Order: sequence, then structure tokens, then C-alpha cells
Amino acid sequence: MTVSNIRDFMNLKGERPLVCLTAYTYYMANLIADSTDLILVGDSLGMVQYGMKTTVPVTLEMMAYHGEAVVNGADQSLVVVDLPFGSYQESPEQAFHSSSQILKLTGCAAVKLEGGEEMAETIEYLTKRGVPVLAHIGLKPQSVHAHGGYRMIGKTGDEASAVMNDAVCIAQAGAFGMVIECVDSALAAKITKKVTVPTIGIGASNECDGQILVTEDLLGMTGAKVPSFVKQYTELHKEISVAVDKYKQDVLSRSSN
Ligand code: KIV
Repeated sequence: MTVSNIRDFMNLKGERPLVCLTAYTYYMANLIADSTDLILVGDSLGMVQYGMKTTVPVTLEMMAYHGEAVVNGADQSLVVVDLPFGSYQESPEQAFHSSSQILKLTGCAAVKLEGGEEMAETIEYLTKRGVPVLAHIGLKPQSVHAHGGYRMIGKTGDEASAVMNDAVCIAQAGAFGMVIECVDSALAAKITKKVTVPTIGIGASNECDGQILVTEDLLGMTGAKVPSFVKQYTELHKEISVAVDKYKQDVLSRSSN
């Protein structure tokens, strides 16, 4: 696809839906680059690649290693790397320090951070200093304990107004786009109409300006349970098991060469 920078990405709002996916490795980035407008090195890698229970334990070092691998695999693509929990919430200065490490060590174009109104000051601080920011509102996986589990956000009037306020604040603060996760579909559609930057839905509305999924989920790579909103396009874990079993039989019967 033609998007390799933030300006092109933003200009596509209202033109056509934006195709976004995650990648954590060189080979996956390489495989998906031609079909995507944005590749996110998500901190979901803690759960998908390292078997962690949540994204909370993920470190800046892990994001830097995986970010570099993804940029190496898709260097013409718009690559965004997640700031992990604890690396930006303390102050705008801490966020700038972490972001500058990620930009220098990986060569990515932008960072993503979770938060709405409470992160607006930080987003403004970063964007004014040359760090493009993709924000993430609705269900914020790094705050899973505070949310009381993984659940739909914005079903009650108060929660819906808070999410709308988050969207308006982060757009005003200079975020170049926002991921909206597990938000009631009418609310996500309303936010998409209200803000001038692209909205990227995950378990939100088809009315968002774009969509993102964890690539391993849509490929059925692990065989693990996926969130109910994920459409699985294939079941790669089955093909892998069959192939590995055939290899095993060949080795055991001395016919693998
Ligand atoms: O960490 C991640 O992969 C994400 C996406 C699923 C949006 O935040």
C-alpha cells in the first residue's frame, strides 16, 4: 500500500478505510507490509509472544528489540511502537525520554500510548517536540486491573461521555490518530464523525476510519481463545501441527532428506 508516513495516513480519513495490523517480528512485518497502511508493534507481544497474563510486565527493552526487527522487515511502512506500562505515565518528561529511546533504537515513525484526557498534556508535550503519537482509548489493556477485566467500555451514559471527552482531548492535544478498543459501536461511530484525525477500531465499529487486529489472532496462529470480535481468516496452528507431525514421521523413518 502507499502509506509510509503520518501525513499520508491522516489524509486517508474519509477517503477509504485504513488497514492496520500488529507485527512483532522481522518475518511477519515482511509478510504483511504490502497489505497494510500501518504496522503496530503492540505491547500485546507480552501475551502473544512471551505468554504473559497481561501487557503490564512488558519492558521498554522488549519493545525496542521487537520494534527494530519490525522496522527491518518493513522499512517502507508506517511503523508505530507501543510505549509499555510504566514508561510514560509518570510525567511528560518521562514519556519524552522513553519515546526518544524507542525512536532512536528502532527507526520507527511514531509511538502509541494508552490514555485519554489524563494523557493530553503528555501528548501535547511529545508532539510539540517532534514525537508523533497514536493514542489508545476505550479499553486500555495496560489498565486492565483498573477496568476490572477485559470488557466493553462506554455502555453507560457516564462512561460513554468520558470516552467521547477522551477522544476530543487527545485529538486537540495533537495525536495523529487514535485506536478505539472495545467501545460500543454507536459511540465509536460518533467519535469518528466528531474528530478530524483517523479512528482505528478494534472490537469497536465498522464505522471507524480503519481497523486493527492482532495478526496472530486473525491467522489462528496459536489455537488459543481469541476475543469474540476477532474474525479468524484461517487456522494456521492446525497446518503447523500437520506439517510438524509429517516431519516427525519422516525423521523417525529416516526419509526426511
Ligand atoms: O498491543 C496491541 O497489540 C494493541 C492493539 C491490539 C491495538 O494495542
